[in-house]
Amino acid sequence: MVMAYEKYYNKIEEKIGTDRFNHCIRVAEKSIYLANIYGVDEEKAEIAGMFHDCCKYKDEEILIKKASKYKILEPYLWSGYRKVLHAKLGAVIAKEKYSIEDEDILNAIYYHTTGRACMSKLEKIVFLADITESSRTYDGVEILRKLEVESLDLAMREALSQSLVKLVGNRAFIAEDTISAYNYYLIRW
Ligand SMILES: [Fe+2]
Ligand SMILES: [Fe+2]
Repeated sequence: MVMAYEKYYNKIEEKIGTDRFNHCIRVAEKSIYLANIYGVDEEKAEIAGMFHDCCKYKDEEILIKKASKYKILEPYLWSGYRKVLHAKLGAVIAKEKYSIEDEDILNAIYYHTTGRACMSKLEKIVFLADITESSRTYDGVEILRKLEVESLDLAMREALSQSLVKLVGNRAFIAEDTISAYNYYLIRW
């Protein structure tokens, strides 16, 4: 455990609920595991994992209120973008309230929902840990678990492909960062 940040864990659990907080613990565990494979700082992986959903409040009203307070509501006010909002706000709150200064950790939080082209190793690790942590059971998770220990870029390509298929199938909004991430990892691996 990274002692410097442990003092915030109770507060996060209080804000997002025990289930969501336990998910953060599993994402941190998976992030540490992947960090060790790819030579990434284990502590950074743990912090990014623990804080990635620090603003995923159950009550959307709180999310929107806080986002407007920090003036990051636009263009995320539109309902299609709501899933992304907690990540954008999360990066701001992680810095302002939880004293996280490391840019790579803040970016890993900021981009954990959308991805983006040219992600750092830590960004990819948290993105993948979020969707492959031990309690995930959806169709396609096993191929991601296999790929993420072989190549982060290849796993990103598969993860983004799966995500786009689901989003289009649901006629859901697709963030531009997700599209450019998909194009990037399609030819990158
Ligand atoms: Fe999230
Ligand atoms: Fe998450």
